[in-house]
Amino acid sequence: MKISEDDYRSTYLDPKVLEPLGYPYRDISYVRRGSSAGYKTYNRSYYPDYLFLVERTPALVIEAKASERDFDYGFQEGLHHAKNYNPDRIIPFLLVAAGERVEMFEARVAGLAVKFTKLDEILGWDELCTHVRAIYSDKPPPEEAVNPAAAPVFTNIFEDIFEALKRSRRPKFGDEDAVVILNDLLLANVYGHKRRFAAVVRRRKIPRGVAEEVRAVLGRYDLAAIEGEAAAYAYRQFVTAYFRGLGSTKRGKEELVRTGRYLTPFEVIDFMVKLAAPRTDDRIVDPACGSGGFLGGLVSAIPVAGRDGFVKKNLVGCEIDPFCAAAARTFVELLLPGEHPALRIFHHNGLYSEKRLGFGDITAEVVPGSFDLVIGNPPANASYSGGRDADFVAGLFGLPLSFSDGEAFLARAMELCAPRGRIVLVVADGLLANMGPDQELRNSAQEVFQPILILSLPRVFPFVSSKMSVLYLSNVGERTKKKPVFMARVELGPDIETGEERILSRELDAVLDAFYQFAGR
Ligand SMILES: C[S@@+](CC[C@H](N)C(=O)[O-])C[C@H]1O[C@@H](n2cnc3c(N)ncnc32)[C@H](O)[C@@H]1O
Repeated sequence: MKISEDDYRSTYLDPKVLEPLGYPYRDISYVRRGSSAGYKTYNRSYYPDYLFLVERTPALVIEAKASERDFDYGFQEGLHHAKNYNPDRIIPFLLVAAGERVEMFEARVAGLAVKFTKLDEILGWDELCTHVRAIYSDKPPPEEAVNPAAAPVFTNIFEDIFEALKRSRRPKFGDEDAVVILNDLLLANVYGHKRRFAAVVRRRKIPRGVAEEVRAVLGRYDLAAIEGEAAAYAYRQFVTAYFRGLGSTKRGKEELVRTGRYLTPFEVIDFMVKLAAPRTDDRIVDPACGSGGFLGGLVSAIPVAGRDGFVKKNLVGCEIDPFCAAAARTFVELLLPGEHPALRIFHHNGLYSEKRLGFGDITAEVVPGSFDLVIGNPPANASYSGGRDADFVAGLFGLPLSFSDGEAFLARAMELCAPRGRIVLVVADGLLANMGPDQELRNSAQEVFQPILILSLPRVFPFVSSKMSVLYLSNVGERTKKKPVFMARVELGPDIETGEERILSRELDAVLDAFYQFAGR
């Protein structure tokens, strides 16, 4: 016999689950139910079934469904409540009860994203309070872990679409495929291209039910609002979870290689973009653009009136990994919607422009000596990670047969940089100073380029064992006299004098101030 949700709660959930575990489900100082737990996002209202408060702060969402078959649906709803009830503070616990299936989940941070992980058992009320108090008494998350522009409500859209695609059985989509398909569907839909949406569904053989689910998710939101910084940064936050240090270079067969695929922390991008001070007419390239973090930072640094032309004409990114290249395109497109057909983000080895190994010919687009600014965080492996063309790359730059990613990208940056242009790169500590096999490269770097700033960074890069620095060089053509170089180091952890935890963005701002004074800017 089918029972209503109200009946389910009063005959099963309250007496058989919550009561034995000590949950004060009748005490209004601890629980809000239905409409008293309601909240609004920008386009509609939502009503969690129960919201339990610990220390007057939402601590647990419960979503109940009468039938076990609706468990997944309940989970999705609960997730939405936990993330959007207060976008500034995720509710840390979620309980889903559907028929006799009752499971509890806890929010855990994965990269910049938050995932809800199933607990082995359902916590009783006292245990829940102890856990939640421990979470709340923890220091607030360090500023650098939080992307200021990210809006959880948008992250939800991406996650819902992703989950729908992952439910497809035939064909089955891997995580990366699902993200790439999501990019296509999302952009088709943002621009209201029904036919393009249908074409993606056909090309990817997405089952009809799954396509309908995706449409339903997109239909839940006001698509005109899915644009601009909040959506773009939420997308980047979502995509972070699929950056694992390994990239795939799909040339024929898929090969997994250690390409140093990880996101550059927001604060480091912000610092480097401020340092580089881009102008609207600068031609700029990021030769290993990942998910487009620098491209986005650059766009935001350009006055609004000039952004469109800047993106169309002056901004170039290269990325060896097709997944990252697709992510970068979607990110920039969401950031500055306008269907930039000429968005110059190339799936290509950033070290050369030739047509080789399945990469197209971009010799007319990425031209040596034509960029006013070369910026980015290329891979920093001790030996070249780009795959089968090591000999070719060594030949291009006159490098010894065994060379590091850092050496190759420094050589490429010098090649791409226009006279009087500048290079601002994240590199392994000591790249310029090392007495490595390639002393010649270092000499020429210092004869033609004036080092302006070298900043040693704290260990804020995932998957990277070596220490990293920011290197700022200016192409002076010939370095007649040696000017002093601004050198600094940023460290995190407690401040020796005050004992306070140091925050990356603040430390970097202080370096920037000191640099401006040094440079008389
Ligand atoms: C540290 S990540 C860059 C992250 C990026 N700054 C961001 O925040 O999104 C380095 C990127 O370089 C890419 N890469 C590695 N070798 C490359 C090559 N030879 N050419 C172009 N890109 C490359 C990797 O796939 C990875 O995405």
